[in-house]
Amino acid sequence: MKGATTNICYNVLDRIVHEKKLGDKIAFYWEGNEPEETTQITYHELLVQVCQFSNVLRKQGIRKGDRVAIYMPMIPKLVVAMLACARLGALHSIVFAGFSAESLCERILDASCSLLITADAFYRGEKLVKLKELADEALEKCREKGFPVRCCIVVKHLRRTELGTGDSLSQSPPIKRPCPDVQISWNEGVDFWWHELIHEAGDECEPEWCDAEDPLFILYTSGSTGKPKGVVHTVGGYMLYVATTFKYVFDFHAEDVFWCTADIGWITGHSYVTYGPMANGATSVLFEGIPTYPDVSRMWSIVDKYKVTKFYTAPTAIRLLMKFGDKPVTKHSRASLQVLGTVGEPINPEAWLWYHQVVGAQRCPIVDTFWQTETGGHMLTPLPGATPMKPGSATFPFFGVAPAILNESGEELEGEAEGYLVFKQPWPGIMRTVYGNHERFETTYFKKFPGYYVTGDGCRRDQDGYYWITGRIDDMLNVSGHLLSTAEVESALVEHKAIAEAAVVSHPHPVKGECLYCFVTLCDGYTFSSTLTEELKKQIREKIGPIATPDYIQNAPGLPKTRSGKIMRRVLRKIAQNDHDLGDISTVADPSVISQLFSHRCLTVQ
Ligand code: WTA
Repeated sequence: MKGATTNICYNVLDRIVHEKKLGDKIAFYWEGNEPEETTQITYHELLVQVCQFSNVLRKQGIRKGDRVAIYMPMIPKLVVAMLACARLGALHSIVFAGFSAESLCERILDASCSLLITADAFYRGEKLVKLKELADEALEKCREKGFPVRCCIVVKHLRRTELGTGDSLSQSPPIKRPCPDVQISWNEGVDFWWHELIHEAGDECEPEWCDAEDPLFILYTSGSTGKPKGVVHTVGGYMLYVATTFKYVFDFHAEDVFWCTADIGWITGHSYVTYGPMANGATSVLFEGIPTYPDVSRMWSIVDKYKVTKFYTAPTAIRLLMKFGDKPVTKHSRASLQVLGTVGEPINPEAWLWYHQVVGAQRCPIVDTFWQTETGGHMLTPLPGATPMKPGSATFPFFGVAPAILNESGEELEGEAEGYLVFKQPWPGIMRTVYGNHERFETTYFKKFPGYYVTGDGCRRDQDGYYWITGRIDDMLNVSGHLLSTAEVESALVEHKAIAEAAVVSHPHPVKGECLYCFVTLCDGYTFSSTLTEELKKQIREKIGPIATPDYIQNAPGLPKTRSGKIMRRVLRKIAQNDHDLGDISTVADPSVISQLFSHRCLTVQ
């Protein structure tokens, strides 16, 4: 109804507590990095914490429409932080805690965030991530660029057991890992401890009433030009879409225990850890750790511990665990499991079958959900138990979704076909703009084929009408389910003083799906060495983050280019794979570089 108002935080908390009377229901079982570190939080407790933290933010001057950056590990306070922003109508911009200081700075500047919420440090498996240090570095860079962020709120996570702040986390047992005294620097007047601010905050907070089309959050995704795009989702459509897709795609029932393994720093976490399950009053698992720590059966031990009924993960995790055989899986009962989901990249039939036969003991339907940061929620997906499955196919569109396959000239193909996957009509969860650059939104998604939303993915429809995603057809690659643009990695490489030019292509990888294969041309006076490749890797980790670390870096005295100077990536992909069937190379300006590159190929992962 025009003029009506709403608030998503109200809908996922107050409504669940007061109208559905589910205040005592567990919203999250939190499982820390160490198996002994656990806690749980009910809807009522979460509501109180969110109200308190909303009051903290309000006191710090946060108002409707302001942008707040969040850079946190997978802990309940991350959920509290995002919902508190939503309660005030402020846009959260969550930056995955695996991203570098530079990436965080870039995102803070792009959206002019006035406040940052972070934590002291956390463990991912054996690895200590000193988050506050990275946040400090990012804020320092922001200051240098003339944008001082006025407030940084820090959760004391690593040494929380000493706090006694009365919240449920402080009651969790001391962590067993050595808890190093992480020295964190403190900027007086800018840095504040979360637990100190919350101490003085009241536990009631009237939500800010919003229009359905008011922005809810910004989430950055790689763009083919190299500069990440701030995808903007709005309150009403996104809420409806994630609530509905969650309910039907996972066949939600009140007694379910749902576990989506994605980090909240990605769209899957936004939609299916926080908003979708909570809008349905579901109980979920929130997991801080990794699938291989302390051992490779961690996932299944968590499934048994909380009697998980619906489990949602990425093909890369399945392929990783598959390598260790069936035993780590079958030694756990997994009897509670009913539905298994996958997301993030095409799942190869071998991994699909292992997931179905071994993990799900052939009892559980698999929902292979195709969607994107931009779509807010599932687009192509089976409905469990109702859609006959084919391993590797995301099957059919969700309710109200109208896919089409186009050829290069933009004609819709009927029946069995392969081409560009597009959507013919909008759906509630479609992104509304690129933050601060509406023109980029229109150019990226609507210009190539006017009247259609272009996904950037290739797709095949078989004789039975099933859709099969064939992978990206732009300059993006999908490493372990995370999209990266070749341009962003190339620009990180050429910032090194030894590098004159770089070209990055996607290369098949047995676990990650795809990995990065980089060709670098050196400046005069430099020699190619393992020290240099290590430096380049470090540079990429610092500029983008560890997920973008290349597997291969090859010396390329020359690159195959067209006469107009365009790098021929198609040829480079073949060289990387030692495939001599190069097709038409008549447009290569200097064919001699090709044989030179074949002889310099990297044979092993560096
Ligand atoms: C890919 C993740 C095949 C695809 C939710 C898409 C998939 C990109 C699938 C979006 C799937 C996602 N089968 N490919 N089930 N799910 N993709 O924005 O290339 O991180 O365009 O959103 O991942 O990645 P994003």
